[in-house]
Amino acid sequence: MKALITAGGRGTRLRPITHTSNKHLIPISNKPMIHYAIEAVVAAGVREIGVVVNPETIEELEKALGSGSDWGVHITYIIQEEPLGLAHVIKISQDFIKDEPFIFYLGDNVIVGGIDRFVQAFSENTSDCHLVISKVKDPHRFGVPELKNGRIIGVEEKPRSPKSPYAVTGIYLYNQHIFEAVHAIKPSARGELEISDAHQYLINQGFSLSYSEVTGWWKDTGQPGDLLEANRFVLDQIIERPHGPLVEGEVDSNSELCGKVIIEKGAKIIHSQIRGPAIIGEGTVIENSYVGPYTSIYHDCHIKNSELEYSIIMERCRIIDIDFRIEKSLLGREVTLSSGKSKPRTQKFILGDESRIEL
Ligand code: DAU
Repeated sequence: MKALITAGGRGTRLRPITHTSNKHLIPISNKPMIHYAIEAVVAAGVREIGVVVNPETIEELEKALGSGSDWGVHITYIIQEEPLGLAHVIKISQDFIKDEPFIFYLGDNVIVGGIDRFVQAFSENTSDCHLVISKVKDPHRFGVPELKNGRIIGVEEKPRSPKSPYAVTGIYLYNQHIFEAVHAIKPSARGELEISDAHQYLINQGFSLSYSEVTGWWKDTGQPGDLLEANRFVLDQIIERPHGPLVEGEVDSNSELCGKVIIEKGAKIIHSQIRGPAIIGEGTVIENSYVGPYTSIYHDCHIKNSELEYSIIMERCRIIDIDFRIEKSLLGREVTLSSGKSKPRTQKFILGDESRIEL
């Protein structure tokens, strides 16, 4: 069995971060999001992975994932020139998949507990397509299945009036019949070859669809709030260790670590309080500050005389002398937040396109 993982698209809902970086490399609990997808398919026994990427960010992605040898697998990069939809992703990957069954995994989906159960259900059911569904509060944001007597009888993409409270998640299993579907369907009103239309085609043509329901936790990280929630959930999985936090860096005697905390190599905690679940990345310095629950601070950051919680801070950020608590925030690479000393004491901003600030 092969796997196809998406890492393309425009990532418009995560601008400005995605102006300069591929969204699938945003760290969740200090690990690039796409690593979770790779780890899940590797754990399910896959050794051949295709990663679909746009031309603008292929270099960055190749640098981050390499040949796949870190996971003992082989990664083939497949360029999608334009984000023409998820069924289009499958269409352009046919030469890579050939006629093997495969896992199609959307690289912006985070699921806790792995996918082995779904792969097993797919082979036991010997169906043509296995969908993984999850009960959600807002099904209109997703592909929505219509269920009857334990069967999927229809799938609609982002419907105004959902026919069930379920979302089709971004984990799909197929045999070669999916290629017939992606070649047959036409672009939707928004100009994309929709994966839901491919599923509806399979249903209409009498192919067999089976499904599993996610019983644990799953998130599509399309929006900043979803990323913070995914980060919260993954951080919560840090096992409470009998001998206290995992400290690979330095913590001085005036600092306090409380609960599930990881201090990575070369990080320094000076006169500060870290209340977990939280992770402090390699080479980061926290000085005279408070870091509260559900916060991930990535590599080589400097936090001084400031307070933050429930946030994701990417590499090489500087947060210095901020006299209010920062929360629910997502900071891209090398962002500086500091308190100006000069008079008059005004707010000064240098913000990239589509930055968002709430004062
Ligand atoms: O997360 C589950 C949902 O994913 C499903 O319920 C929907 O049926 C499915 O259409 C999809 O909806 P999204 O609106 O969340 O898809 P999005 O455009 O965010 O893309 C999902 C992933 O695929 C993400 O990794 C980006 C990538 N992508 C997307 C498109 C449209 C590509 O690589 N190429 C593309 O052309």
